[in-house]
Amino acid sequence: MHIQFSQSRPQGARLIAHVVDKGKLPAATNAAMRAGAQAARFKGNAGQTFDGFVEEAGEVARLALAGAGDRNDEARFANLEKAGAALAGKYQSSGDKNLVLDLSESDLSAVEVAHVLLGLRLRNWRYDVYRTKMKDDQKITLEGVTVVGAPHGMEATWADGAALAEGVEFTRELVTEPANILYPESFVERCQERFEGTGAELIVLDEAEMEKLGMGSLLGVGQGSSRDSRILAIRWNGGGSEAPIAFVGKGVTFDTGGISIKPGPGMEDMKWDMGGAGAVAGGMLALVKRKAKANVVGVMGLVENMPDGNAQRPGDVVKSMSGQTIEILNTDAEGRLVLADALHWTQVEFKPSRIVDFATLTGAIIVSLGHEYAGLFSNDDKLSKDLAEAGEAVGDKVWRMPLDKAYDKLIDSPIADMKNIGGKGAGSITAAQFLQRFIADGTPWAHIDIAGMAWSEKQGRTWDKGATGYGVRLIDRLVADTAES
Ligand code: BES
Ligand code: MN
Ligand code: ZN
Repeated sequence: MHIQFSQSRPQGARLIAHVVDKGKLPAATNAAMRAGAQAARFKGNAGQTFDGFVEEAGEVARLALAGAGDRNDEARFANLEKAGAALAGKYQSSGDKNLVLDLSESDLSAVEVAHVLLGLRLRNWRYDVYRTKMKDDQKITLEGVTVVGAPHGMEATWADGAALAEGVEFTRELVTEPANILYPESFVERCQERFEGTGAELIVLDEAEMEKLGMGSLLGVGQGSSRDSRILAIRWNGGGSEAPIAFVGKGVTFDTGGISIKPGPGMEDMKWDMGGAGAVAGGMLALVKRKAKANVVGVMGLVENMPDGNAQRPGDVVKSMSGQTIEILNTDAEGRLVLADALHWTQVEFKPSRIVDFATLTGAIIVSLGHEYAGLFSNDDKLSKDLAEAGEAVGDKVWRMPLDKAYDKLIDSPIADMKNIGGKGAGSITAAQFLQRFIADGTPWAHIDIAGMAWSEKQGRTWDKGATGYGVRLIDRLVADTAES
């Protein structure tokens, strides 16, 4: 979506929008509009909309009002995003190509306007590339927004917003792509295209290199697939000489469960089992596009988990790069196996100051937290607090769950150093305990289980049904608040 700034309203504008604080209709509304708004009980609540038609200088235009709620509401930014998103939702397929956001009567700050635009752009995103027979009135027509009367400093402020939107959109694209299109190699290629010319460094490990490094845990997951596995690292050095902050993502481009195969109904959801890697890729893109003043590395473990004559079996024992051995009791508990080697390699290769991993790791986290909070597991109170605050600020919320030695015993194995599943209860915690065994003592680390967050069955604040882009804003904000001066 194209967003531009202008001093005056473009000629022939047909759709003109105002952001309305609760109880404050703009003077541009005529008596009929005001009566209509009242009859429709439009008050300017966040996300509420109302429209009517006005005649000015012989031309008729559609005047849209988007409510932003009370201006002293503590959720002000989220409310402004809702206002923008409501406009996109309502006029996306209206036939209008351009929306004029008229701020001439508004006293919104540049940062506030940027939230409106972010909501507009994010909510307008849809991935229609595989739809060849869509009727004209279903197609997205809204292509651009012209902001008239923007406050001082708007373009510079929006540049950061646009970078963030690009990151979120990239994550959604990766998460939405089906697994016949997006597999480890094509995931890497898509990133290579997107990061071309940005100044980020991309490092790719193929299977031969991973074998040399001893990544038996990750490679075991991919061995039943005809698609080769990969590790992708995206490195951005925007800071001084400090150790980087590392983000690590689970990138299972399709999870059938392997030999411990999943039931058929709903298995198509497992195309988004690379949502952690998708969040890391999009988060890195947002940081790189706004030239974040920090050293950051994003590492993605990319594999496809398939059943096959060559697939690993329940009972197999594999050796991870860390040297620790793992008894595979369920080939569907594969995400932790991928992360084990990705996390270890990240520490050896980049010596990060702290690590945050994102993974659609367990169905159990959905039982615990549903689709409102991701599960946060961490060995470090400061990092936990930073993540919780960043998440609260941007809407990618996390809720801390426990780690404890007592749970750790549940993954001891009689034949190897550990097994890849725990007992009946605490499935998300035993998965996190497993990951912790691959984190060196003293390294601040957090694991974020996003199984309930990467995909949504219903539309939300700034997304339609489907890929949410969860994690990108959390990454961006954590870096801004804790790694940039
Ligand atoms: N990718 C799944 C977890 C998942 C489930 C993500 C639903 C998103 C929605 C993961 O690989 C998995 O299969 N986990 C198993 C672990 C079990 C075998 C210990 C699960 O959650 O059932
Ligand atoms: Mn699985
Ligand atoms: Zn999985």
